[in-house]
Amino acid sequence: MVNQQHINAITLNGYFHMRHNVAYANIFSAFADKWKTFQRQPMAVKARHAFVNDTGYEYKSASASDFKENFHLTRGYQTPPKATQIDVEFLEYGKSLLDEITPLVQSIAQVISAAGKFDITSMVMGMKDQWVLRCLRYFPRTMAQIEANENLLAVPHADQGLTIRIYEDGAGFEVLWNGEWIAVDPNPNCLMAYPGLVGQYYSDCRLPALCHRVVSNHETELRGRNSIVIFIGFGEVEYDSRNGRIKDRFAYGENYLMPVHEFKQLFIPRLVPAVA
Ligand SMILES: [Fe+2]
Repeated sequence: MVNQQHINAITLNGYFHMRHNVAYANIFSAFADKWKTFQRQPMAVKARHAFVNDTGYEYKSASASDFKENFHLTRGYQTPPKATQIDVEFLEYGKSLLDEITPLVQSIAQVISAAGKFDITSMVMGMKDQWVLRCLRYFPRTMAQIEANENLLAVPHADQGLTIRIYEDGAGFEVLWNGEWIAVDPNPNCLMAYPGLVGQYYSDCRLPALCHRVVSNHETELRGRNSIVIFIGFGEVEYDSRNGRIKDRFAYGENYLMPVHEFKQLFIPRLVPAVA
């Protein structure tokens, strides 16, 4: 049974929070600890997880606009040779999290289906092996780095598929709604979910791909910022990047009021396995 409050929330705010029980909160924070332990390993150890086919470890240096490290994990991720005990614990825990979260993902897909008046549930559940558990850490930054990026850790953009945020250890996440940037503070008892461009496509623009960004604050400048999300790619189409990179094309809600036929022209048949 789909919760009507969730349907109302996503329609009114562009996203919704879904409360979960304390067992999930414990799983997510335990996994975040394993991610933080993984981070403390030497770069040479982390780099064994080469970033290939959008999975593995990725490092963006201080000269990049987004100074960060991230790990993309799927259920089928192959542990590389010479993995450490810390690697193995991190990876195994992440894979079991992707299993344990399955009923929550299904509930989220049902809410989006009901609000969008198009059932995406079977597409979402059928992509389970490609769900990406994305662990992300923005590094602490100097004042010069912060100013060079206009106080942004992540520039405004929409996502491709369905995004579920399961953990954040700092404020700074904001969504663009009704012409304003609105802060959404972390809540360890809830998942936050919102559609990306493919969700907007299937809902005939009833549910716009939610534009979002991450702003810097004093705390994240000093300590950095961790977040963990699940990216779910689904469907038979994908955004055609020949229309411009997503973060350039959809930085400020350009998609929000676009007519359906015009929006759908920006998509092509999906040629490769879906990723978010
Ligand atoms: Fe995003």
